[in-house]
Amino acid sequence: MKTYSIVLLPGDGIGPEVTQEAVATLDAVAAAHDFQFKYTEEPVGGAALDAHNDPLPDAVLEQCLQANAVLLGAVGGAKWDHLTGALRPESGLLKLRKALGAFANLRPVMVPDALAEASPLRAEAVRGTDLLVVRELTGGIYFGEPRARETLPDGRESAYNTMIYQTDEIERVARVAFDWAGKRHRRVTSVDKANVLVVSQLWRDTVQKVHDQAFADIDLEHMYVDNAAMQLVLNPRQFDVIVTGNLFGDILSDAAATLGGSLGLLPSASVGGPVGLFEPVHGSAPDIAGQGKANPVAAILSAAMLLDFLDEPQAAQAIRHGVDAALDAGARTADLCRSGHRRVSTQEMGEEIRRHLKFAGAADRP
Ligand code: IPM
Ligand code: MN
Repeated sequence: MKTYSIVLLPGDGIGPEVTQEAVATLDAVAAAHDFQFKYTEEPVGGAALDAHNDPLPDAVLEQCLQANAVLLGAVGGAKWDHLTGALRPESGLLKLRKALGAFANLRPVMVPDALAEASPLRAEAVRGTDLLVVRELTGGIYFGEPRARETLPDGRESAYNTMIYQTDEIERVARVAFDWAGKRHRRVTSVDKANVLVVSQLWRDTVQKVHDQAFADIDLEHMYVDNAAMQLVLNPRQFDVIVTGNLFGDILSDAAATLGGSLGLLPSASVGGPVGLFEPVHGSAPDIAGQGKANPVAAILSAAMLLDFLDEPQAAQAIRHGVDAALDAGARTADLCRSGHRRVSTQEMGEEIRRHLKFAGAADRP
């Protein structure tokens, strides 16, 4: 039987509980298809700091590089907030993304009918939202050098980072965005701050050049990031594919997550290298960790993206159907629960989704 090797990195906070539901869901679809998973579970972030004083031990990275895919929960928490630099839990995640060559972070945002009412925005403004944020993930200000925090000769403290891109880094993520647009609604919005930042001027010129040379049949518009943040809440349906740099993508994807009423819904796939990395967009949410309150949907949909990456689209589709059907049936974790809903725990939400898995293989969704 076809066997895929997956490294599980549950991480911190709610990471372990949502990852557990994602794994149970992967096993449920594997059982109904012709493949199985071999899992290796390893610590990352704070969990790895506690065990090995390193947020991404070499041995863990080595396992990841040899796997077909990596499924990650979340990293970080107050316990490790006093740490700096390479010892922060987040550095483990950044190092992993870089080492896997996962330069394109795909963050789809959809607002199914069942969730439009839960949105903090008017239901009619968000209903039908279906956009994809393509965030550059291994460059920009997250990795740019020089960076430092230092005391100046006059005693003042100073700190800086560098937002830097080379053309090839921009070109490759632009190609990913145009490719996806070609499979979707053929529109790309490139987001930058070219009215102020020279790095954004290079970004804009380069995206335009990739478009003109190879993707002239896709509609391309450029938008400043401040306007994009506003447009996302005013009229999210105008977007198809948004391509942007690392920091802007981080911020805009959280903003977009609120459209469906909860950050607990958003999955992501980080691709570009031979091994894909799949993780919910939400963080470790230490305030609700271990209480069965976390929404496992983002982790479970990340598992669906993992299946797409492994070229198992029918299994991926079965999961997406299960999520839609569970939401349609009124099951809600605390983050989304309104009157008229059935409030369920993390594990119950996972079970509800697994009960609704549909193995017809028919594409319910474009
Ligand atoms: C995300 C997170 C991470 C990021 C953190 C945890 C390093 O916010 O995946 O969006 O900033 O990329
Ligand atoms: Mn983020």
